Amino acid sequence: MTKLIKNIGQLLQVRDNTTALRGEEMHKLPLIENAYLVIDKGVIADFGPMSEMPSIEAEIIDAGGRIVMPSWTDSHTHLVFSASRAGEFVDKINGLTYEQIAKRGGGILNSAKKIAEISEDKLYEKSAELLKEVMQYGTGAIEIKSGYGLSLEAELKMLRVIKRLKQNFPIPVKTTFLGAHAVPEKYKNDRKLYIDLIINKMIPVIAHENLADYIDIFCEKGYFTTEETDQILQAGTRYGLKPKVHVNQFNSIGGVQMAVKHHAVSVDHLEVMTEADFDILTNSNTIATVLPACSFFIDIPYAPVKQMIDQNIAVALATDFNPGSTPSFNMNFVVSLACIKQKLTPEQAINAATLNAAAALELADEAGSISKGKKARLIMLKNFIKDYKEIPYYFATNPVDEYFL
Ligand code: NIG
Ligand code: FE
Repeated sequence: MTKLIKNIGQLLQVRDNTTALRGEEMHKLPLIENAYLVIDKGVIADFGPMSEMPSIEAEIIDAGGRIVMPSWTDSHTHLVFSASRAGEFVDKINGLTYEQIAKRGGGILNSAKKIAEISEDKLYEKSAELLKEVMQYGTGAIEIKSGYGLSLEAELKMLRVIKRLKQNFPIPVKTTFLGAHAVPEKYKNDRKLYIDLIINKMIPVIAHENLADYIDIFCEKGYFTTEETDQILQAGTRYGLKPKVHVNQFNSIGGVQMAVKHHAVSVDHLEVMTEADFDILTNSNTIATVLPACSFFIDIPYAPVKQMIDQNIAVALATDFNPGSTPSFNMNFVVSLACIKQKLTPEQAINAATLNAAAALELADEAGSISKGKKARLIMLKNFIKDYKEIPYYFATNPVDEYFL
């Protein structure tokens, strides 16, 4: 049935854009005060000021002054995993760094061991439980990566779990194949064999079974080189998998250039940036996705995202939810961190977590803003939040009262 939401205190992000915002545009968050909105068959059919509200046959929802806005898009997560790594969390408290933990066999390889042991059904149950929780925090579209399998069988297990989530949940789920997340123990002395496995076995099977939308690589010292990134992206794009790539988390080794060369939809992390990295992104369509909750949790520098906006780079915010570097799926906290630690204005941060984040999943034509014809995946915020600046201000809270799908 048609729904009419009336007495909306602020209807946020009212714009028709279907591509990522840049520069000056990021400063503005268009809104209507005291508004109504009509949802018909899950689509935004109409909206405007209360003074112009039509009288139509509809289920009436009284917002009573609450804020309504597009749901968050979380464009970078590793939501499918088998067990927490709280032991490593304590190691970190006791002084070890993320890199030191990885060198001791912890980190990604630790999660891979656990994925090998769990059944697909059990993994699905755990992941579905988390995804339900994620939605309660206002995320209305999500990307989920594989990458804790690191063998054909286990990567397929993860990707099939993501496919089931896609089929069973009412929000868009995009899938990324991240076979090149770390070199497994048994290929340590012959990494080329593992790269060959990814290129000649994993990618063709995954493409044939239609199990992924994107391809990702952890392009970083100690993980995968830019040359290996080149080879894997070439193979992936041949099979229709578009690149979204982990680059510049700890070192700038040319990953940005390589990803842009392969027309990456996004490059993600970017805590360490050179002038050349800024320039190449300014002149490309690749979105820079920054992950401040990861910086917060493993205590590393924050990506220089303010400078990126100043240099006209399209930026998005995401959680990076995963058991090692970011055990949080709270997009509202990410938006707060972007303001507090990276000095984005609330307008910039909300733009980066809605419209630009949707663009980072190629969903900006149906999500990310209040626009007639876009999908009505909306959130209504709690009554104590009266102005959009209070969204990042009340940090680490869950502002979501109700969501519409
Ligand atoms: O994005 N940096 C690489 N991958 C993940 C962390 C993976 C893990 O520690 O399990 C990230 O931070
Ligand atoms: Fe990640």
